[in-house]
Order: sequence, then C-alpha cells, then structure tokens
Amino acid sequence: MDRNLALEAVRVTEAAAINCTKWIGKGDAKAADQAAVDAMRRAFDLLDIDGTVVIGEGERDEAPMLYIGEKVGLRDANSLKVDIALDPLECTDSTAYGKNNALTVIALAEEGHFLNAPDTYMDKIAVGPQARGAIDIDATPAENLREIAKAYKCEIAELTVVILERERHNKLISDVRGAGAKVKLISDGDVSGAIATAISGTGIHAMMGTGGAPEGVLAAAALRCTGGDFRGRLNFRNEDEKVRATKMGITDFGKIYTLEELAAGDGVMFAATGVTNGDMLKGVRVYGKTLQTSSIVMRAKTGTIRFVDATHHLERLI
Ligand code: FBP
Repeated sequence: MDRNLALEAVRVTEAAAINCTKWIGKGDAKAADQAAVDAMRRAFDLLDIDGTVVIGEGERDEAPMLYIGEKVGLRDANSLKVDIALDPLECTDSTAYGKNNALTVIALAEEGHFLNAPDTYMDKIAVGPQARGAIDIDATPAENLREIAKAYKCEIAELTVVILERERHNKLISDVRGAGAKVKLISDGDVSGAIATAISGTGIHAMMGTGGAPEGVLAAAALRCTGGDFRGRLNFRNEDEKVRATKMGITDFGKIYTLEELAAGDGVMFAATGVTNGDMLKGVRVYGKTLQTSSIVMRAKTGTIRFVDATHHLERLI
C-alpha cells in the first residue's frame, strides 16, 4: 500500500464530524450518530478504494449502513482493496451532552489485517512509543507503572494514566493512585485516551481499563502508526457475546492480543477528526458559514503523524 490513503480518508472523517456538529449538546445521541454515519457513508463514495468494512456500526441485520461486511468506495477495477475499521462517531454521548473526546475515526489496512473484533468489552492497556515493551496485561497496575516509569526514566509520581470513569474501574483507579501515579478520568472516549499516550505534549503516559473491543482495534491501529504499544483481552458479559465472537472466528476467549494481532502490517493507516475538544484534537469550530476542523492522519509505513487543520465553507460542501 504505497498510496497514502489516510490523506484522502481524512476527508471522510471531516465530513462525518461536520455533519454531526449540529447535534453537539442537543441531548440526542442517536441523531448525532446517524448524522455522522450518513455523511461518512456519502463521503466513502468519493474515495478511490475497494473497501470492506470489518469494524463498523454492527452486524448487517442491526445496522443499515456501514455494517460489517459492507463494501464501500468507488470500487473500480483498479481500486485498491482495503479493510476498513471505523467509528463514525466515537463518543455519541459526549457529543449529545457537549462533553470531551468525541471523534470520527477510520483506520485502513490490507485485507485480513484487522482483528474482526466482536462488539464486546476488552481489557486494555496502552502506552506511547517510549514505553513500548514495558506493559503486561496480567501484571498489577503497580508493576506496569514501575516498568513504564523505568522506560520514561522518571518517577511513578510523574506518570498520568487515563481511565474511563466507570464503577468497574474503582479498584483500578485506587491501585493506580496507590502506586503513586496520577489518574485522569474521562467520561467517554478510550480511543482518544489511548492515542494521547503516543502524542507528545498531552501529558498522558498510559491508558488502562475496560472498554469496547472495536474501539480497541481502532486504538491499536493508531498506535501501530505511532509506534506505541497495546495489549487487549476480550471481556465477555454473557454467553450470547461468546456465541457472537465464535461466529466472528474467535476460538480462544482468554487470548491476549498484541498490537500486531489487532492491526497488522505496515499498510495500516489512521485518520480521525475531533468533534468535541480532547487532549489530542480540538472539536469542530463554527464561525457563521465557515467551520474549522482538526484532524490527525498517520500511517504505519513511515510513522509520520500529521495534524490537519481545515477551514470548510458550509455553502460549498460536497
Ligand atoms: P460510543 O461511541 O459507543 O458511545 O463509545 C464511547 C466509549 O466511551 C468508548 O470510547 C469506550 O470504549 C466505551 O464507550 C466504553 O463502554 P461503556 O460506556 O459501556 O463503559
């Protein structure tokens, strides 16, 4: 995959972010998500790829658009075949309630290079490039923090860990604080939290906790590009989830997935646009009939990370 498709894919994430802006703070998460899905689906038609959605809005019977298995893109005879992992609106609630960290996200890879993750939870730990190799999902938070601090050549007290604010994380939060590190609680958005570990200037060193498995693949795709590290293990809430996972080809329910097993190869690319403000990206800004978006674009082959700020004219949007 020599073409830097991520530079084209960013137009798709921008379109989704722009279209759901009108729903920020309106209390209607469903409408915000639908607006992002509609725009993302339309924008895909302009992209010269032969794409298959492998992480999407759900299975075919539960999602009318951008469902798992859906074919997207121009799909000409010469179009590049790619697998696509996407979340048209990561953090629907944050958008609806005007909170932080909402993103529109696409990751691309060669066929068969993403884990076909079921819509279950995943236990996750993520770090940036400096701490690559220092994490172990079976180790205690204190042990992981000791290794991460060693990698950063700093004290544990200087580390900040992003954790989703959920009751299930109460013990994790107190263990991280007990080990001496700082905790940054987020109401939603562990994709953004995981990527922030790899972006200098965010002050985030690790992301720990349990969140969505599809979001785990998206975060891994981004960290594959930045050179960070990630471990994930599917966390099933009931037997039905195990049945769904089996249908998607998962046989080992306790497997610990590495970064490469979630998003493999140098062909991985990633694009995301901020909807609401986060550690990494600003949300969409509206100035009368113009809008400004902030996006991140990256690819594993070169490790280049681009921040793309764009001004869009409402009346001239395609
Ligand atoms: P949505 O886009 O589905 O709203 O996901 C937001 C999110 O916070 C993810 O970032 C995270 O992985 C997941 O929800 C956590 O799930 P839960 O809200 O059930 O704890």
